[in-house]
Amino acid sequence: RRAVIAIDGPAGAGKSTVTRLVAEKLGLTYLDTGAMYRAVTWLVVNSGLDLSAEAAIAELLSLAKIEIIPADSPENVTIVKINGQDVTLEIRSPAITSQVSRIAAQKAVREQLVTLQRQMGMSGGIVVEGRDIGTNVFPEAELKIFLTATPEERARRRLKDLEAQGNGGISLAELTQEIEKRDYLDSNRSLAPLRKAADAIEVNSDHLTITEVTEKIIALYHQ
Ligand code: C5P
Repeated sequence: RRAVIAIDGPAGAGKSTVTRLVAEKLGLTYLDTGAMYRAVTWLVVNSGLDLSAEAAIAELLSLAKIEIIPADSPENVTIVKINGQDVTLEIRSPAITSQVSRIAAQKAVREQLVTLQRQMGMSGGIVVEGRDIGTNVFPEAELKIFLTATPEERARRRLKDLEAQGNGGISLAELTQEIEKRDYLDSNRSLAPLRKAADAIEVNSDHLTITEVTEKIIALYHQ
């Protein structure tokens, strides 16, 4: 099997951009697992199901076709389709972002998505970003990075991203609150919570450019 690189961390630490660049530079595949949880959340919200109807959600998901296609544009790092419909932009909207942690905490949802993720990474040669990649999805990954930044810095970056996608109109304070709430939910759920794996290397991106973070990870990979 070829190498697996796991990149975990809280929301807005720069994981998506960095993961895509690391994959591109190393000639590996890129997988955004957050996009998968977002796609399921989109499906549930648009199905009219109650967000707590776990059994019905599990059933809905088991019948759904999720496509995660890496794209090489800086704004849309991943094209996401669910049951054939392109939901790339909609899954990044505040309406989905605010609900995704609830869906991601459900056992059947995690089981189904983790199975898919392991299938997609089965032969390696992949850089995978998420919250539980190093701890749970690929515990045997050759390199594990835990990418962090202060909540303020992460909110600033998120605002820039949202504005670029036409989803602006939210204040920095609101965004900081939203990010902290999501990190809290992701870190305190019972199943595969957001954690730094014991053997992960923590990289704080506060004072680093995207290029610097990317180069640091590539250097660690070659070590
Ligand atoms: O990375 P992104 O912000 O797109 O992730 C959206 C949400 O999906 C996270 O806040 C978390 O609730 C969930 N997630 C997860 N496990 C992963 C990736 C994402 O629970 N591996």
